Amino acid sequence: MIINFSDLENFGFLKIPVSKDIDLVSEIDKLKKEKNAVILGHFYIDGKLQDISDYVGDSLQLSQQAAKTDADIIVFLGVHFMAETAKILSPSKKVLIPDLKAGCSLADSCPATDFEKFVKEHPGYTVISYVNTTAEIKALTDIVVTSSNAKEIVESLPENEKIIFGPDRNLGNYINSVTGRNMLLWDGACHVHKQFDLEAILKLKAENPDAKIIAHPECEKPVLIVSEHIGSTASLLKFTQTDPSDKYIVATESGILHQMKKASPDKTFIPAPALDSTCGCNDCNFMKLNTLEKLYNCLKYEQPEVFVDENLRVKAEKSILRMLEISAKLGL
Ligand code: 13P
Ligand code: SF4
Repeated sequence: MIINFSDLENFGFLKIPVSKDIDLVSEIDKLKKEKNAVILGHFYIDGKLQDISDYVGDSLQLSQQAAKTDADIIVFLGVHFMAETAKILSPSKKVLIPDLKAGCSLADSCPATDFEKFVKEHPGYTVISYVNTTAEIKALTDIVVTSSNAKEIVESLPENEKIIFGPDRNLGNYINSVTGRNMLLWDGACHVHKQFDLEAILKLKAENPDAKIIAHPECEKPVLIVSEHIGSTASLLKFTQTDPSDKYIVATESGILHQMKKASPDKTFIPAPALDSTCGCNDCNFMKLNTLEKLYNCLKYEQPEVFVDENLRVKAEKSILRMLEISAKLGL
C-alpha cells in the first residue's frame, strides 16, 4: 500500500483503512512491545483506550511518567499540549499522537503574542501557567502548574509575591479563593467546563438528594460553590474511592466516569448535565478524536509525530522542571 503522508495535513491523522478482521487490541499490544513504546492515556479518553494504556492519569501524573519513562516511543492518548509537554521533557524520544487535531480550547484561549504583551505590561510579576498551554506560553512562564498542584505551588511562594496566572480564569479564581492570594488572571476558559449548567445540576441534586456534587476547578464559580469536593481528575477519582457516599454528580469531562465505575462498581455516577442537553458537550471533542484505529496506524507507521523547536524547548522545559521539582519536594 502507498502511504500518503500528506493525509496528515488534511485530516491530522493517517487515513489508512484498517481491516475489520484484525484484533486491534492485540495488534496494538504487539506493536507496542516490538517498538518499545509506552502508551500514556488521560482520564478523558474513551474507556477502551484507557484500558489499553500503560499509564492512565491526570496531567501531572502523565507528565511525571513522560519525564521518567525508558521507552523509545511515547504515544500520547490525550491532547496536543500533553504530547508536546512529553516531547519537551523527553526530547530524545519519539513522541506520537494519534490525531494532530486533538487541540484544547483552553490552550487556544491564550495566544502567545497577547500573553507576552500582558506579561511585559506587568514587570516584577512571577508568571504561573496551567499546563494546558502551548510550548510558547510555557517559555514565557516561570512555573507551570496543573490542577493537582496549583494550590500547593502558589502557597509555596512568599505571600507578597506578585503573580500572573494564566490561562484559566476559573482555576485562577478558585486558587485565589483558597489561598487568599490576589493573582492577576488571564481571561481564558475550557469550552467543556464552562458550559455546565448550575440550574440543571441543582435539579439533578433535588432528584438525587443523596448524591454529592463534585467538580473540576475549571468549572465556573457557581458550580464550584455548590460542589462538595473540588479537584483535578485524579483527586475527584480518589475522593469517590475514599468517601462513604454511594452517589455522585460529576462536573467534569465524562471520560473520568470510566475509572470511577471501575474503582467503585457499586456506586452510582451521574455526569453533570450540559447547558444544551442535546450537544453531548460534557465530552471533550478533542480528547474523543483518539480512536483505536488511529492508535493502531500511529504505532504502525510512527506518525503523526510531535516536534518542538530546540530553542523553544529549552525555554519551555525550565518552567515544567520547576513544577516537577516543587511537586517532588512537596510529595505531590
Ligand atoms: P487534570 O487531568 O490535570 O485534572 O486536567 C484536566 C484537563 O482539562 C485536561 O485537559
Ligand atoms: Fe482542553 Fe477542556 Fe478538552 Fe481539557 S477538557 S483538553 S481543558 S478543551
